Formats: sequence, C-alpha cells, structure tokens
Amino acid sequence: MAEESPWKIPLYKIYTDDEDLNLITKIVKRGTNWAIGPEIEELERKISEYVGCEYCITLNSGTSALHATLIAYGIGKGDEVIVPSFSFIATANAVGLVNATPIFADIEEDTYGLDPKSISSRITQDTKAIIPMDYGGLPCKISDIKQVSDSCNLVLIEDSAEALGSSINGKKVGSTADSSIFSFCGNKVLTTGEGGAVVTNDKKIFEKIKLIRSHGRVDVGAYFDNTKESQYVSLGYNWRMSSITASLGISQLSKLDKIISKRQENAKYLSDRLSKISQVRTPTMPPGYNHIFQMYTIQLDSKKTRDDLKNHLEKKRIFSKVYFNPIHLTTYYKQLNQNKPYSLPVTEKISDQVLTLPLYPNMTHEEKTYLVDSIHEFFNC
Ligand SMILES: Cc1ncc(COP(=O)(O)O)c(C=O)c1O
Repeated sequence: MAEESPWKIPLYKIYTDDEDLNLITKIVKRGTNWAIGPEIEELERKISEYVGCEYCITLNSGTSALHATLIAYGIGKGDEVIVPSFSFIATANAVGLVNATPIFADIEEDTYGLDPKSISSRITQDTKAIIPMDYGGLPCKISDIKQVSDSCNLVLIEDSAEALGSSINGKKVGSTADSSIFSFCGNKVLTTGEGGAVVTNDKKIFEKIKLIRSHGRVDVGAYFDNTKESQYVSLGYNWRMSSITASLGISQLSKLDKIISKRQENAKYLSDRLSKISQVRTPTMPPGYNHIFQMYTIQLDSKKTRDDLKNHLEKKRIFSKVYFNPIHLTTYYKQLNQNKPYSLPVTEKISDQVLTLPLYPNMTHEEKTYLVDSIHEFFNC
C-alpha cells in the first residue's frame, strides 16, 4: 500500500500516462539494448527538432551536460567563467569541476536572470565563458547577454536546465547560445527521473561531447550491436543515458506542449487570485516571453513575510520551498572566496523574498483553491 504523504499539497507531481508505461514496457520486454538502444538517437533527433538546433546529445544529468560542455570548449585551469549565484549549485560547481573559477555576477529583477551590466563589470582577460540561467522556466535576457559575449569573444553556454519549451518571440530557449543544456531530473517539466542534454549548432562541440560522454570511444555502429573494434581516442566518462530513460523522454516530449499549457493555466489561476494581495508579487514576464512555469515563484515584501508564510503553509501541509538561496553564501563558496567576499545586492534581496509554491499539470480545483485560500488566510484578506 502506498505510504500517505505528509503533504496535502506536494511541491510537484509528475504528469504520466499509459504511453509512458507502454514504451518502457516494450524496451524491458525486448530483453536487450537497455543501454545504447535506438531510443537515444531518436530522443536526440526529437529534442533538436523541438528546440530548433542542429545537434542534441543526451547525458545522464544536467550536471554532466554542463560539465561535458565546459570540457568540450577547453575551459580549465586559469580560466574564469561568469555565472549567476541565484541558481542551482550545479551551475557553479560544473565550472569548479573543470578547475576553472566561477565568477558570480548579479541578476536583474524582470526575469531573475543574469544582468548584462553586471556581467560586463566582471569580465577580465581570463574570462572565457558566460553561463546565464533561465529561472524556473522563464527565459533570461539572452539576446542582451549574447551581445556582451559576442563583443568580448566569449563562449556562451545557456543553463536552460529548467526551461525546455520556453521561448522569446517564438524562438525556443536553447537555440540562441553557442550551446545550451537541459535537465530532465525529477522536478522538471520534461522529466525522465534523471537525465540531461546539450543542444548546439556546432558540430565539433557535438562530436567532442559524444567522446566525453562515452570513454573517448569512436564506435562503428552501436557498441552492443556489432563485432567491430572501437577506437579509444581521448579520455572520457560514462555519462550516457539509458535506453529506458530515453524512451520515457520520447513519450514525455510528445506531450510536452500539453503539459506546459496545463501548467500555464494553473499558473494563471494562481496569479489572478494572488495578485490582489499587495505584499505578493506574482510571476511577471517581459512582452514576448513564454514562461513554462517549471516553478511558480512569488516574491514577498520582506524576508520575514516570506519565512512566516512558508511556516504557515507548512502547518497547512502545503509544501513550499526557497529557490534559490545564493550559491556564493553556501559554506563551500564562502570558504573559497573568503579573501574576496562577494556582494550581490539584487541576488541577496531576491533570495530573501522568493517562495516557490506547488504547481503541477493535474492540480485539482480543490488543491488550487486550498492553496490560494491558505495564503489569503495568512494575509487576513
Ligand atoms: C539551473 C540548474 N542547473 C543545473 C541543474 C542540474 O541538473 P541535474 O539535476 O539534472 O544534474 C539543475 C537541476 O536541478 C538546475 O535547476
């Protein structure tokens, strides 16, 4: 028997149907090629078509996708990479993992993405790349950021882990930067449990990531499907996605636009009712921006209001969470930068005030009204 959840309303629930099950069952039953099966390339082809990029390569996580991309661009010791502190820690860790230095820049308040002016102020002769991030499914100001990277000859890698399907004026996130990454981990709009991908129009980068993903190996045909010798031409990891995972990706991708519309409808319901509360800023987006609401995050008028509301919701058995506390204030990065502590005023203010509320495609009317009524109850309105 399923264990009862401590939450009346969890932070997220995955949208799944029989198609997911049928595809997985087909692969399990075939009894072979659970790894390196045809589903990998099929998913890659479908993602590149969906995003509007030449190449896609799947990996076992968004973190390995970032890590592999940095290796592929030759970023390493002595290099600086500009990243947001208002992000999941993997954005900065990937830079450290290739022995380069993450340099934190501040964000702007329209999209919570990297502020192009703050990026410019951080550029030195050691800067090699910029990694902007699309917060919770809302695109960052990627065109302005691209102008900065182009003018200084820097590599632009978009951390679109949370934003597959979002767009600006119809142009999909992931199709503007030199390379972009996605995550398919459990709470993403398209999830395969764990998983990730890189999209790019650069064939050389695509080929390099393929080697990094799989032991530096050049195969003649699928590794488990032929007797020919493989060539091992560089160092590499095993960062491959499994065929079962890829099949889940294929069936989730086929309903991604439906999943996004349901999220957007629910977000609209929440915003219509919550925007009446003066202490709450509901998610906003610049004109032409398509927000897929991987997260539904409100901003409160102070840290105290935010913390009190979070506690109130917890008592009502509603799961809310702070995304994100600043990376530069974590124990590891504080220690790393102890001689030169960062001051990122917008990041620190926003991190103190944001609260991510439950949102998922099949949220019932009762769940939505219970959530909104509980917030109204907190504000006595
Ligand atoms: C902004 C951001 N970057 C990177 C990652 C890392 O992705 P993964 O958890 O698939 O390794 C995540 C995911 O959680 C994320 O939200």
